[in-house]
Amino acid sequence: MKKIKSILFLIIGIYIAPPIYAKTFLITCATSGFGQAIASALAEQNHDLILLGRDVQKLQELKDILEALYKGNYRIYGIDFKNANSFSVFKDTIKSTSLDGIVVIPPRYKCSQDVIPATEEWQDFFNMGFLMPLEVLKASLSSLKNPSAIVIIAGITSVYYIPEYANSNILRLMWLGELKNLTFKLGPLGIRVNMISPNIILTTSHNKRIQLKADQEGISFKDQLEKESAEIPLHKFGTAEDVAEAVSFLISERAGHITGVNLLLDGGLSRAY
Ligand SMILES: NC(=O)c1ccc[n+]([C@@H]2O[C@H](COP(=O)([O-])OP(=O)(O)OC[C@H]3O[C@@H](n4cnc5c(N)ncnc54)[C@H](OP(=O)(O)O)[C@@H]3O)[C@@H](O)[C@H]2O)c1
Repeated sequence: MKKIKSILFLIIGIYIAPPIYAKTFLITCATSGFGQAIASALAEQNHDLILLGRDVQKLQELKDILEALYKGNYRIYGIDFKNANSFSVFKDTIKSTSLDGIVVIPPRYKCSQDVIPATEEWQDFFNMGFLMPLEVLKASLSSLKNPSAIVIIAGITSVYYIPEYANSNILRLMWLGELKNLTFKLGPLGIRVNMISPNIILTTSHNKRIQLKADQEGISFKDQLEKESAEIPLHKFGTAEDVAEAVSFLISERAGHITGVNLLLDGGLSRAY
């Protein structure tokens, strides 16, 4: 009888108890192509998510989709990186949350192609792409557990110069420097920090760009894609799901001894050693 009772308790326990690996992760720019794929991948593993984004309606749509598919708890905060005041509710409430990890996705933001952009333009660019994402990180640091992890999304120009992305080359290098900074400062607190540097990933903006180029050249999307990816050893561009897989690994305890790494997601394109 005692044995039957304990088996029953075990079965009920397994059924009601949340999976022991359920964690809480924060994602900035969660409505981006990368953000949505990362949110889906982490939600699929039953993790709870805090989703930040500029457009609250888009965030709500993402939350609705996740709730329909998975069992986690999803909180959303509207944050506009152009408006520091929009951070206040998030800053107040995040203090009382325990976080297992943060995925820092800076917004997509372009600087002009001028040889040296105007000072205000630079300031705007650094603000959006560097200072504001850091502000989110700063506000959330005291909520990070020991152990926990941060994953920063940068771009391949952190190691590979591309003239057309002249100004973003500089932004990516700033993140590379900050990666080292955070690795050394947060390592003793049990916080790992890694960065992912993707080459072109087939999100909406690149699909549109490739289609436009194909139309201009009078060829199919597939032919244009093959042309553009010919130099890549794997002969293809990555997908948002590839990015999400890499984030899922780096943010998990499976990467428990990996910190300070800038992981290239470029199909082998970079020739740097
Ligand atoms: N896709 C690629 O090939 C690729 C490659 C390397 C690196 N990256 C980098 O990875 C990041 C994400 O790229 P993605 O292609 O996934 O981006 P995306 O789909 O174009 O989305 C851009 C994101 O930026 C957000 N955003 C724009 N202005 C904002 C503001 N003022 N405040 C807050 N959020 C703002 C957008 O919010 P809304 O939804 O409200 O518009 C959206 O979530 C970017 O930093 C990009 O440079 C992308």
